[in-house]
Amino acid sequence: MRVPEHVAIIMDGNGRWAQARGLARLAGHEAGAESVREIARACRESGVRALTLYSFSTENWSRPGDEVAGLMALLARFLVQERREILDHGIRLNAIGQTDRLPAPVRAALTELMTASRHNQQMVLTLALSYGGRAEIVEAARKLARKAAAGRLRPDQIDEASFAAELSTAGLPEPDLLIRTSGELRLSNFLLWQLAYAELYVTDVPWPDFRRPQLEAAFQQFGGRERRFGKTGAQIAEGR
Ligand code: IPE
Ligand code: IPE
Ligand code: MG
Repeated sequence: MRVPEHVAIIMDGNGRWAQARGLARLAGHEAGAESVREIARACRESGVRALTLYSFSTENWSRPGDEVAGLMALLARFLVQERREILDHGIRLNAIGQTDRLPAPVRAALTELMTASRHNQQMVLTLALSYGGRAEIVEAARKLARKAAAGRLRPDQIDEASFAAELSTAGLPEPDLLIRTSGELRLSNFLLWQLAYAELYVTDVPWPDFRRPQLEAAFQQFGGRERRFGKTGAQIAEGR
């Protein structure tokens, strides 16, 4: 089976999963952390090279304070508990987003594990934290404008490759497959530039119930898709 090189996931539906069980939303986030463990492991074992998880958006800062605090505590705990798994299995931890907005203990745990795992090559696990696609694009434009203003770049030198090089995902391949759990048909400001040609897969299964069998179903469907990149089906069939 053809496995995607880079899988990006919008992990949605934790709150609804919990509410349907009469539990607090935070219980849904905790169950969702179990899915993160299982899916990261399954991706690595399947030969996926890059996994990017939308963990907290810039917009998510507007949630009730206790939910945000609970999510941040969960994140800090996750980084401690997953340390061995990450280091023992050759995973390089990476983060994108405005990580300077994260609470200091989370930032410290994140930086430490990113540094400790920096030479690992099996799979890169990127957590999108306080991430917003528009903010990322604006920041890239700002960096290019600064270079131009300093006389180090001519505007006509700006092309797709040099623009992408200023994004926080520079160096990563573009996602081949975007999975969104819990049924919403939107991007919610995730990887707006990078998802230009990703295959989209939306399932009604909420994130806490999205485990290995559900991932395999997504890969199965991905494997049967014809990615044409604007060409005709005949051209693809002939390898042109
Ligand atoms: C995704 O689940 C987790 C985060 C956005 C942090 P939600 O918390 O959005 O769950 P729903 O969409 O309310 O069910
Ligand atoms: C997107 O989910 C963000 C994450 C999964 C971290 P949301 O639940 O925040 O998205 P909207 O608000 O329904 O679009
Ligand atoms: Mg949601």
